[in-house]
Amino acid sequence: MGRNKLLLLYTPTVSFLFILSLFDPIVSPFPYGQFDNNYYDRSCPYLPVIVRNGVRAAVWNDNRIAASLLRLHFHDCFGCDASILLDDTDDFKGEKNALPNRKSVRGYEVIDSIKADVERACPWIVSCVDILTLAAREAVLLSGGPFWPVQLGRRDGLTAASEASVSAQLPSPIEPLENITAKFTVKGLDIKDVVVLSGAHTVGFAQCFTFKHRLFNFKGSGQPDPTLDASALTNLQNTCPNQDASNNKLAPLDSPSAYRFDNSYYTNLMRNTGLLESDQALMGDPTTASFVRSYSMYPYLFSNDFAASMVKLSNIGVLTGADGQIRRVCSSVN
Ligand code: HEM
Ligand SMILES: *[C@@H]1O[C@H](CO)[C@@H](O)[C@H](O)[C@H]1NC(C)=O
Repeated sequence: MGRNKLLLLYTPTVSFLFILSLFDPIVSPFPYGQFDNNYYDRSCPYLPVIVRNGVRAAVWNDNRIAASLLRLHFHDCFGCDASILLDDTDDFKGEKNALPNRKSVRGYEVIDSIKADVERACPWIVSCVDILTLAAREAVLLSGGPFWPVQLGRRDGLTAASEASVSAQLPSPIEPLENITAKFTVKGLDIKDVVVLSGAHTVGFAQCFTFKHRLFNFKGSGQPDPTLDASALTNLQNTCPNQDASNNKLAPLDSPSAYRFDNSYYTNLMRNTGLLESDQALMGDPTTASFVRSYSMYPYLFSNDFAASMVKLSNIGVLTGADGQIRRVCSSVN
């Protein structure tokens, strides 16, 4: 009925595309090709609520999952297409077991379960990658971080990147800052995005093996990393004794507030208590160090810039139009 009324208001000045947009994507002759904030408003109006409730329930169950969802989104997003969610099968090798992800990336079940809820409300309409993108935003918001508008209409990939390509594209905590920056710039992100998005390490945890080389024999010196604060060093040596058995123990990336999305990541770096070598390395370059100093002083500046950089991140390499598909379950292609 609302639709008929709107059609009566049609005048030739109203664009043809606007009229098309009145139809549900499933019945429209041109179902694809848009990418905007209202993409599912008519076809799945409760999507934001379903995602928010799903993330809320998951965080209630496991505080750390907010951080894990944010990282899951990042690891998908050097080509945001939900390819990271695909399981390995006999004749298909997905990304879950690639080196940067295996026994490290978490939160897959949360997205699978939210997708199942979404399918019950609006079957075949919403892509897994849009759900993951919204879930990461909700996770940050729930942790006290900023809101950002999520454009929607991404479609799910049909393939996964190879192990070699995942490892080559995602940053490693032990490579130099120039290498990390290069990995961001090929994706259209800049040096400021590197500093801002690294601020995601204001939440969550890292396993000892990702930074233990800093604690005992840094680069063959027989000494700890000189850029690591002495009392932080003692704490970390207790958490991560110099034996393989400690490799998978966890340390907070931001020990003052591991579950709170604030700017303390940057105040840590100013005090030489950054956890990863790649975190503290932001103080070793004048350009990145000056961003760190600003974000440590101005929390709102960090919030605003983080929101803007997340919008950029979440739009990298998206599939729209007739590319890809809307997966029925996130762990396998249709
Ligand atoms: C700049 C280069 C980056 C490097 C080298 C890096 C590296 C790492 C490493 C090694 C861990 C610990 C993984 C483990 O121990 O299993 C980690 C955790 C994490 N990373 Fe990054 N990361 C980077 C950028 C980012 C970005 C851009 C985001 C998101 C926007 C992000 C979000 C996270 C989060 C939230 C965690 C904690 C996850 C959890 O507790 O489950 N990281 N990162
Ligand atoms: C950094 O990048 C250079 C040039 O691409 C490469 O030769 C070097 O192996 C990289 N270093 C690390 C530690 O990955």
